[in-house]
Amino acid sequence: MEPELKAKMLTSIRDVFDQSLKKFTFQSSRQVYEEIAKVAESVVMNVLNKDRYLFQMIDIRDYDGYTYSHSLYVGILSVLLGKYIGLSISNLNDLALCGLLHDIGKTDIPIDITNKPGPLTSDEFEIMKQHPSLSYKKLGEHIIISQAVLQGVQTHHEKYDGSGYPFGLMGKDIPLYARILAIADVYDALNSTRPYRKAWSPRRIFDYLTSCSNAHFDPELLTAFLHCVSAYPIGTIVHLSDGSSAVVKDNTPGFALRPIIRFISPAFKAGRDVDLSCECLNLTIVDDDDY
Ligand code: C2E
Ligand code: SIN
Ligand code: SIN
Ligand code: FE
Repeated sequence: MEPELKAKMLTSIRDVFDQSLKKFTFQSSRQVYEEIAKVAESVVMNVLNKDRYLFQMIDIRDYDGYTYSHSLYVGILSVLLGKYIGLSISNLNDLALCGLLHDIGKTDIPIDITNKPGPLTSDEFEIMKQHPSLSYKKLGEHIIISQAVLQGVQTHHEKYDGSGYPFGLMGKDIPLYARILAIADVYDALNSTRPYRKAWSPRRIFDYLTSCSNAHFDPELLTAFLHCVSAYPIGTIVHLSDGSSAVVKDNTPGFALRPIIRFISPAFKAGRDVDLSCECLNLTIVDDDDY
């Protein structure tokens, strides 16, 4: 995505959150809706216009702007997954809106909880757990938005095994939009540096999501999602099972763990490119530098 477009989108998202903090007026809510609907459409256009869209998460993000950029990325990642499973453009627009607005209820949570530079106490987490319902209520009252979007927003912290909140819904009782949002949400949260921890590497996130499939996520949707993101973004330094090291040059969709690499050591291999997605190669990545 071009930096100018992204900056514009982030400004619009910031506007919505600002209006939300200032308790929307009739005028402002209408204007804000039009603005955010435009952002949602351009998120969808951006994803649809790429025939080979494999997400390369390389942004370094500070936590001050976390909620805004998180909202944008959850929108992008949700649309990416929605496109992969063949949803219609109108569903994709809904999904983008869900992503952009899912955490807007955090503006009603005391700032010392949302910005706390450490783990939350259980009382604080109980308050934090109100944010999906606060998002639902706020959007339902102030912005003309479809019921499907409202429900997706309200249930984005439900878990597939029924252990989520606010309702403890289980399996396919969780609305599709929310099952998609849940994956995008956790992926992007872990990819971000927060006041209480550093960002995880893409490979570590990949392993984590896989390990909580069934428990947290819809396993079919998670499998689909893992086809859309790369575990080793271009430029990652990796170490291989034969003791050599390499830099990732490109990714093959569907082969998240087997990118195209260029050897950097040992010396006699340096500069040679190998496509690890060719099954004939008995060579695997054992770790990357910032796992
Ligand atoms: P968020 O930071 O946007 O995180 C969204 C979800 O991503 C979390 O939902 C959780 O499922 C996953 N996630 C985020 N960070 C981590 C992590 O370090 N480890 C693991 N295993 N999963 C993670 P959850 O837990 O329901 O949290 C909802 C919101 O509550 C978070 O949204 C964040 O704003 C806040 N929160 C959660 N834990 C903490 C914490 O320890 N400290 C602070 N200050 N806020 C927290
Ligand atoms: C994209 O690849 O176009 C979206 C991710 C980014 O803005 O870095
Ligand atoms: C999918 O298309 O994989 C999800 C559809 C659904 O479970 O509602
Ligand atoms: Fe949330």
